[in-house]
Amino acid sequence: MFNKRIRIKELLAQAPTGQEVVVMGWVRSFRNNQFIALNDGSTNNNLQVVVTLGSQDDDLIKRITNSASLKITGTLVPSLGKGQKMDLNASMIEILGDSDAEKYPIQLKNRPSLEFLREVAHLRFRTNTFGSVFRVRHALAFAVHKFFNDKGFVYMHTPIITGSDAEGAGELFKVTALPFDNTPRNDKDEVDFTKDFFGKATNLTVSGQLEGELGATAFGDIYTFGPTFRAENSNTTRHLAEFWMIEPEMAFYDLEDNMNLAEEFIRYIIKYAIDNNREDLEFLAQRLADEEKQLPQDKRSEMGLMEKLGFVLNNNFERITYTEAIDILRESNHNKKKKFQYPITGWGMDLQSEHERWLVEKHFKKPVILSNYPKEIKAFYMRQNDDEKTVAAMDILAPGIGEIVGGSQREERLDKLEARMKEMHVPSEELWWYLDTRRFGTVPHAGFGLGFERMVQFVTGMTNIRDVIAFPRTPGSAEF
Ligand code: 4AD
Ligand code: MG
Repeated sequence: MFNKRIRIKELLAQAPTGQEVVVMGWVRSFRNNQFIALNDGSTNNNLQVVVTLGSQDDDLIKRITNSASLKITGTLVPSLGKGQKMDLNASMIEILGDSDAEKYPIQLKNRPSLEFLREVAHLRFRTNTFGSVFRVRHALAFAVHKFFNDKGFVYMHTPIITGSDAEGAGELFKVTALPFDNTPRNDKDEVDFTKDFFGKATNLTVSGQLEGELGATAFGDIYTFGPTFRAENSNTTRHLAEFWMIEPEMAFYDLEDNMNLAEEFIRYIIKYAIDNNREDLEFLAQRLADEEKQLPQDKRSEMGLMEKLGFVLNNNFERITYTEAIDILRESNHNKKKKFQYPITGWGMDLQSEHERWLVEKHFKKPVILSNYPKEIKAFYMRQNDDEKTVAAMDILAPGIGEIVGGSQREERLDKLEARMKEMHVPSEELWWYLDTRRFGTVPHAGFGLGFERMVQFVTGMTNIRDVIAFPRTPGSAEF
């Protein structure tokens, strides 16, 4: 058997008593032809491997370069040096893969910038920052499944290719097998999608919600966790064209039940990461503190990362209505001094991210759940309130991020749903299957969508969403 290695994270938790072990990993540095810092991705803490001078061939020593991969057998002993608890005294070193140090793109000594590392995203996992970010991302993903599984939710895989636009926002990537030259056309000289692969126009999904509702009205509680796609031309630190979304959908739930679940869920996954990835989070907290030292005082966060996460665990989210939010914004000095780029024009306006961020970061200084938005600025499926002006929507806004969750109670009354679809020009013929749930045993139900990358940003303190997904897809960029 080739692989009886022990992971460095496990090894570092053992007492060094001269035991023989095999480790494999990549070289982070090699000092004085004697000390190898070896990393295997299980932790940011490198294992110090000590090579006794003269014990290895000169040829082999020359091949121990930045990012070369090694298999090392040795004995684990208490370290004589400062900075680490133990050393691995190498008895046998095998080079598994050479690495030309001159050509290796990431020179750790020069503290490469996050922007530069995006250009070499295929190798950036081998840095401490990205090691920590992606281990935390993994823990959060696992916690998502654990949370819902423990509550008896059914994990549903909704389709990636669909014929509908769940959000009705028209930000669709088309999926077609038609040729681009000589495209078939109908009498109206439009592209004839009846000749296409599926016999109709299709696109990549923007949300699994509509199919999720079908599941909820049979299983009671379901959730989805999958990629979603939006061809929205937003080049910001919070938008991706391909992002992962978690969408729970619950029968027999109203808007308040929905908010309670969302709040419990967010706390649970944050706590899971703190309990299981403290070392990585502390590393990221320090990284963020260092990054913020470069900023002017008023641009720095008031709390450190760990403090912020602890605060979210221990304090209820603020809950206010859209109407209350507009009043607060309108009356704010920030607005009166005309400091918003988009002034508060009054009830009915859509909130810009600067407004959302002012509310959470400057006014409430904690996550906020905004509810009951004007129906005109929300999707067709949201339940209409008795005032006939608002819908039972809720968005959760997080400090540093803005909107992290969007959700609502759904319109379960067939007549009201059909009327709203008509008003909003949502084609009801195409959504006949969705309307069927309202025809056969309709129930009050609700759900929400959590943008997974925005959640990872919140927990890791990474300011750019491109740094929390392995290979970001953004306008003009789909490398790797
Ligand atoms: O608010 P959205 O558009 O809501 C929905 O898609 C509903 N169907 C969800 C539901 O009720 N089941 O998106 C939900 C969340 C947002 O709050 C945001 O966190 C994230 O998805 N999101 C994005 N994340 C990254 N890049 C983008 N372009 C995003 N668009 C939305
Ligand atoms: Mg939204």
